Amino acid sequence: MHLEHSVADSNSMRSSLSILQGEHASYGTALKTLLAHLKRARAHSFMPNLEIFTTGLSYIDTFIEQFHHPKEDEFLFPALRQRTDEADEVMRELQFDHVNGTLAFKELNAALDHVHLGGLNELHRFADMMERYTQAQYAHMEREESLVLSLARRLLVEDDWIKVERGFRANRDPLFGAEGNRKFGILFRSVTQAVE
Ligand SMILES: [Fe+2]
Ligand SMILES: [Fe+2]
Repeated sequence: MHLEHSVADSNSMRSSLSILQGEHASYGTALKTLLAHLKRARAHSFMPNLEIFTTGLSYIDTFIEQFHHPKEDEFLFPALRQRTDEADEVMRELQFDHVNGTLAFKELNAALDHVHLGGLNELHRFADMMERYTQAQYAHMEREESLVLSLARRLLVEDDWIKVERGFRANRDPLFGAEGNRKFGILFRSVTQAVE
């Protein structure tokens, strides 16, 4: 009972969860924004300003591929593995998603290169891939929040959360965090607003 009380009061827990869920929300917004531009371009058969997709994929590369998933692999999942084996299977699958996501992301970049060269047909192909990628990423984040975070909330103790928070704070999402590289977030927003 005392343990539950101290965990519930943990600033490190609240801060860690806030960073991670905030990054999920920012990532979701970025994906939705890119999809909305693609949907509009497809509906009216015009070539959109491709800079937004170049910037958007660059944001995903920096934020998801280099910061977000590695932080989960390095700090959150190992902390939970030390407290329980209940989530081992799901965390194995989530880490597999991280690897698969990297491969899918490389294919997206290649598809975008083809749009620059190939026009509207290639845009449709890129848009289909982007839709599949977005669905997979949403499903992935949903599983992390409903299965991993709920268990972590119950089972991690203050020392665990302090380490997780330190790791999460080191590299924060540039769109979400007040720290870190703000320039990227500003660039992404300016491109988004320019085409809206
Ligand atoms: Fe993840
Ligand atoms: Fe995540």
